[in-house]
Amino acid sequence: NTPINEPLMGKYTKSFGYHTLLRRMPDIFSVVINLLKTDPIESPFAQTERDQVVEKLKILLTDILTNESLRKIDGTSKLSIMWNEILDEKFNTNKTGTWFETEWLFAENYMYMRIQEAIENTKNMQNYDLFKQLKDKAFGESENTMIAIAKFLLTRHNKDEVNTTKLKLYFEQMIKISLWGNRFDLSLNIRNKSTNFSEDPLEAIVSLDKYILANDIDDIWNTLNVPHNNAPKRIDIIMDNSAYELFTDLCLADFFITYGLADVVVFHVKSIPWYVSDVTKLDYSNFLNRLEKECTSKVLQTIGNRWNILYKAGKFVVECEEFWTLPYDYSKMVTKDIELYKKLSKSQLLIFKGDLNYRKLIGDINWLPSTTFKDALRGFQPTSIVALRTLKCDCVCGLSPGYENNIEENDNDNNYLYSSNYWQVSGKYAVVQFNK
Ligand code: F6P
Ligand code: MG
Repeated sequence: NTPINEPLMGKYTKSFGYHTLLRRMPDIFSVVINLLKTDPIESPFAQTERDQVVEKLKILLTDILTNESLRKIDGTSKLSIMWNEILDEKFNTNKTGTWFETEWLFAENYMYMRIQEAIENTKNMQNYDLFKQLKDKAFGESENTMIAIAKFLLTRHNKDEVNTTKLKLYFEQMIKISLWGNRFDLSLNIRNKSTNFSEDPLEAIVSLDKYILANDIDDIWNTLNVPHNNAPKRIDIIMDNSAYELFTDLCLADFFITYGLADVVVFHVKSIPWYVSDVTKLDYSNFLNRLEKECTSKVLQTIGNRWNILYKAGKFVVECEEFWTLPYDYSKMVTKDIELYKKLSKSQLLIFKGDLNYRKLIGDINWLPSTTFKDALRGFQPTSIVALRTLKCDCVCGLSPGYENNIEENDNDNNYLYSSNYWQVSGKYAVVQFNK
């Protein structure tokens, strides 16, 4: 198993990294290759290139499974150049890392970059998003849940009495909706993903409370709800997945704007397709337009229109810095991208969504779960930080003594092939953590 306080690596055969490289990757590749082959691409040039991309993806998968070295990226984009500099710095001539013997965080980020390389080295498919069909499909699969939440939101807006107790309750609901939205990333659920809660989603989130292993919601609220000076207030959300999770993040952002907790919400998205379902800038605008213009549900149209107006008015802002698709953990931001660090420092609150962002916050290190969130951040403190994450990987921190009592018995046995701690990787449990 991964030694305590060491970074996760594929070579540890009981880790989720090992399982991911060996089992999840073949699954992801086979789904993606299949979708690519059956995509009705019209241009005959692109059809030929598509076959080449399929071949490259197969070679990449073989490289992973046979533990080849991580070679340079064959590309000229700004991001490729940045990656090659990082690869140069990390693996000088004497030391070449392989898939299983490099930090898992690095190797897995690198894999998505290699997928992008295959796409960018075509002439006619350069903007092709291999995961688009999956993201689009996930939208349809969560429509009923989105309708229920949109109804709740719109009714809520029409009530004018807002006292602090009610507002706090509403805040908690929005935070939890956004938190549990993270359960539905497509890389973990590549073949099996129904986002529709069978019950009322607002009731469902209450029944999920017992799975929140660390809950700093009160501290977040106390920080947000203090008198402030006249400077425009900004909240930043470092986004994770498209489709349903994006919807839930927009609900949270809407709450901040509507109740004056922020004047602007900045959404940080990925500049390239990433970890299957992560939001790109195009996903974001397509999503708003699909809500407003393509849904038959009136409430989704209304909410889509409302969010499009906020987007056009500059209340919702989308940014996509390269840093989010580099392999660095966030403690490196201050030395590797000081401009971004300074920009984030001006925000009231940074909300980091999801598992991958969490891994990058805490350095993807196998901490003792009792390590405090602050310590695990290792100095990354541009401003107040929130992590909203469902647990899908074996690193976690900030859990109080006795947390084991909240793990249901059947999640703790060794029924999982590689990890003895299935509760840490299943997405069933979550944390809401805060550092002021
Ligand atoms: O594969 C690594 C991983 O971080 C998993 O642990 C998780 O299932 C997935 O990627 C992405 O999760 P998220 O979309 O929540 O960042
Ligand atoms: Mg994701």
